[in-house]
Amino acid sequence: MKKNRSTKFIICSLLLGSFLANSQSINLDMDASKAITKIQPTMFGLFFEDINFAADGGLYAEMIKNRSFEFDKPLMGWEQPNTKRSSLNKESGSATPIEIAANNTNFCRVEINNATGYALINEGFRGMGVKKDAKYNLSLKASNQEGNIKKIIIQLIDKDQKIIGETVIAPTSKEWKTYTSQFTATQTEAKAKLKITFEGTGTIDLDMISLFPEDTWKNRKNGLRKDLVQLLYDIKPGFLRFPGGCIVEGRTLADRYQWKKSVGNVEDRKTMMNRWNVEFGHKQTPDYFQSFGLGFYEYFQLSEDIGATPLPILSCGMACQYNTGQLAPLEELDPYVQDALDLIEFANGSEDTAWGKLRSDMGHPKPFGLQYIGVGNEQWGPDYIDRYKVFEKAIKAKYPNIIIVSGSGPSPDGEHFDYAMQELKKLDAELIDEHYYKSPQWFRENAARYDKYDRKGPKIFAGEYAAQSVSGANPNNRNNWECAFSEAAFMTGLERNADVVNLTSYAPLMAHEDAWQWTPDMIWFNNLQAYGSANYYVQKLFSTNKGTDLLAISKNGEPLTGQNNLYASAVKDVNTKEIIIKLINTSSVAQDVSINFKGTKLITDGTIITLTSPDLKDENTFADPKKISPKETKFKSEKEKVKLKLAAYSVNVLKLKMK
Ligand code: AHR
Repeated sequence: MKKNRSTKFIICSLLLGSFLANSQSINLDMDASKAITKIQPTMFGLFFEDINFAADGGLYAEMIKNRSFEFDKPLMGWEQPNTKRSSLNKESGSATPIEIAANNTNFCRVEINNATGYALINEGFRGMGVKKDAKYNLSLKASNQEGNIKKIIIQLIDKDQKIIGETVIAPTSKEWKTYTSQFTATQTEAKAKLKITFEGTGTIDLDMISLFPEDTWKNRKNGLRKDLVQLLYDIKPGFLRFPGGCIVEGRTLADRYQWKKSVGNVEDRKTMMNRWNVEFGHKQTPDYFQSFGLGFYEYFQLSEDIGATPLPILSCGMACQYNTGQLAPLEELDPYVQDALDLIEFANGSEDTAWGKLRSDMGHPKPFGLQYIGVGNEQWGPDYIDRYKVFEKAIKAKYPNIIIVSGSGPSPDGEHFDYAMQELKKLDAELIDEHYYKSPQWFRENAARYDKYDRKGPKIFAGEYAAQSVSGANPNNRNNWECAFSEAAFMTGLERNADVVNLTSYAPLMAHEDAWQWTPDMIWFNNLQAYGSANYYVQKLFSTNKGTDLLAISKNGEPLTGQNNLYASAVKDVNTKEIIIKLINTSSVAQDVSINFKGTKLITDGTIITLTSPDLKDENTFADPKKISPKETKFKSEKEKVKLKLAAYSVNVLKLKMK
């Protein structure tokens, strides 16, 4: 597709398309007599990583950035408009971070010299999204040290400093005490800030200043952003992989993700840098930290809420090989292995076990039913295989039924991939994670990738993939229509090979409009809104129509993997008694297709769900979030034959009831 293609040209090509379509119909054969394999319930899932402000500033609905003054610069995110470093601030006041040496954390000491002049303002995560008439829950810890401070006045202000919500707390105690208050916002504002002022003068210590909307997913107190979880829920994902991604590995081993530090009392979870903060020179986000308010307990709970099998991935003692590649020596791997064993106990252990008890104390006495665990993220080379062996031995010895996910590196081909595949096969690995961030063309050309995979070898987890419109991790990549339908074409190959490919997920999942590091992403959000990209709708169409059993669909006895720019896969759903066919037309012209059914009788009324857009560069946006979204129409079949005209550049899901 050429740049700036004119509308006139599009109309001409569509007309030409219909003409061509009428002149040559493509015949497909659909065999419903034999179920080739079961479609795993896990087939289409989600990959969650705290990248692009997906957790803090995104899914985790906390609105205060750096709520406990633990960022490397402890006052980052906080402004004091009337305070000067070079002054005694007699007409205002000043805030100073104080370190508690015992546990290496901070609180904030505020000296108020003149209450009318002093203010402490939190900027939120690129502002705070506030909705008119919505309720907000504020909490903070305070220790009123000295002086006569009578009130802490907390206000939401809009971009013009107008007050759009307010509450007051009386800090009565010199001892640390938690104060809470609820108030209602009077105006909708995407870039609100939280302003704290005082009545009286003196010294007061503050910590854990927190603000959440009351309206969260399942109304959980201090929970997750409802609109974002809803988008995940709507996909009906088979699994939820967490917490990444490279965040699992860390830039160094010290900053790897350690799940034990993400559970228990939220206040005690120590804030840490997010490894994506300054990863890319072109997209620096030095204010990106992890509060772990969304930690492993919450990930398990989220998985349960959205009906997804939890799939945690853990560090295997190797820091990101794109960064330091730091290694834990093999003889010092025990703590890493123990983390994996303890995680299984945390998820599945009874209340009599130490970690099972913690889960229960946190509010979930019933086990989470963990079945999978990932060893390492995207590691490569002999060092990985050496470490994988140690984990495998220990996990299988204690938990023989847990399925271990191993990694094949960052690429779906090349030296590292070939080596990993060869070694993991020798080790009888159960489930290998493959990653592909490739061009749309690669996705179209690789729809047959798994057709020749060894049926007796390891199962495949297509754990991270997304078509890159420019190149891998390029900030100019777009979630455009060409990428989305090319992924759909490729996904027919995943589905056709459901006997080998058991889990698949697009990556990354989410990105904040003003704070992302990586594009493309499946879901885009700002502080008030969220929308699914065209790629989201492709995922949703596959996931919500995954059926139960794979069927064969072919052209001249061969699977449709790009002949005539067409791709197809078919399943039946024994529960709904439906045959579901995915047909992707990647051609710029409409195409006539006729499908002959064998092995079943059909009810003549069918449904076709179509996702299409005329231009390869079309995208969903905040202004037009459903520009590319599924449209459902009815059609009639003639006995056991269906004739269809597939729109140019279209993803189609046909649903037919079996008699
Ligand atoms: O999805 C973004 C990153 O891509 C993941 O963190 C990593 O696993 C891959 O390189």
